[in-house]
Amino acid sequence: MVVGVAGGIAAFKAPTLVRELLAAGAEVRVAMTGSAQRFVGAATFGGLLGRPPLTDLWHGGGEPHVAWGAWADAVVVAPATANLLARAAAGMADDPVAAIVCCARGPVLWAPAMHGRMWRRATVQAAVRRLREAGDAFVGPERGPLASGEVDEGRMAEPSAIVAALSALLGPRDLAGRHVLVTAGPTLEDIDPVRFLGNRSSGRMGFAVAGRAAARGARVTLVAGPTTLPTPPGVERVDVRSALQMHDAVVACFEQADAVVMAAAVADYRPARRLEHKLKKGEGPIRLQLERNPDILADLGARRGDASRPVLVGFAVESEELEAAARDKLRRKRVDLVVANHAEVGFGGEQNEALLVTEEATRPTGRLDKRALADLLLDEVVARLADGAS
Ligand code: CTP
Repeated sequence: MVVGVAGGIAAFKAPTLVRELLAAGAEVRVAMTGSAQRFVGAATFGGLLGRPPLTDLWHGGGEPHVAWGAWADAVVVAPATANLLARAAAGMADDPVAAIVCCARGPVLWAPAMHGRMWRRATVQAAVRRLREAGDAFVGPERGPLASGEVDEGRMAEPSAIVAALSALLGPRDLAGRHVLVTAGPTLEDIDPVRFLGNRSSGRMGFAVAGRAAARGARVTLVAGPTTLPTPPGVERVDVRSALQMHDAVVACFEQADAVVMAAAVADYRPARRLEHKLKKGEGPIRLQLERNPDILADLGARRGDASRPVLVGFAVESEELEAAARDKLRRKRVDLVVANHAEVGFGGEQNEALLVTEEATRPTGRLDKRALADLLLDEVVARLADGAS
């Protein structure tokens, strides 16, 4: 893996990224632009790696960019400045990082970091588009405090997020050519212009499934209820608010999908009437009338009928009789796999523990990272897609 470092304040996080990559078992080499060396010393990387970073294309003879580009299974540029993005998008190769990117055999991942106004400038966005069209991937930038003290979009993704994006880029491609539709997050059901009914779903499980499916080569449409999570690299995102909007968005692309994973915590009820004006309080209690939302998953199961496509995956949250309830859901909603969680585990955190329930078997997963659970679920989807005609 080559880590390319360009000249921005976020360069101080590049040594942390290198350490995290080493801890994850990667072999790492570092290349730096001239201005990167004004922000972080070559000696820092030399100390971490036991070999000096590449800082000069002319020193030492040979063609280091060719050798390094061929050696690396991936190149990650962190931080990527507006200047370097523009030069790389124009095909320039006038410093060690740009030259290695230009000669990279494997995927290239950019982690941009710059002022928000710079990031939004049309010329910078055009460079990003051009690099994406060339097949490169991006992680971040995130919204947060910038070097100037302003809060804006432009902060480099955290090293851990960069490592995750890299491992996603390098994973198996067993969903290539498939379209996976994923739902995630809560739905919010409006009472009036300022109040709503909601739930505590963070969206992490669905976002993990979307991210892993994209990393495994799928075209992914993520229909997301309101969450603050960043869109995983390579995922098309459709934002919705209510269960009815989610239903419409899912039905609109259900027929083109090879698999649908309903990880959203869809509200079963909505206020019977959405008030146009803010509800005023009175002295006594008030009564809120609720009506049923459509059950999106059951609707898909019914629409699919006896066909085997798309593969349908649902989630269940239960506090007792986990397996029996999941099995009942499997049959009632006519789906292929139910991922059943204990109500006490799973909501909000990074980890989960579930039973994978299919018609044929029940598999406990043990406690694991949501991304790892996403992979187990997708393994089941891949197996079902491989069964029979596509
Ligand atoms: N689901 C859905 N549409 C709804 C409600 C749920 O598509 N209106 C999906 C969820 O995305 C999830 C599964 O159905 O995949 C959960 O089913 P649900 O019946 O809501 O189960 P729980 O809420 O776990 O349990 P209960 O039956 O007790 O409501």
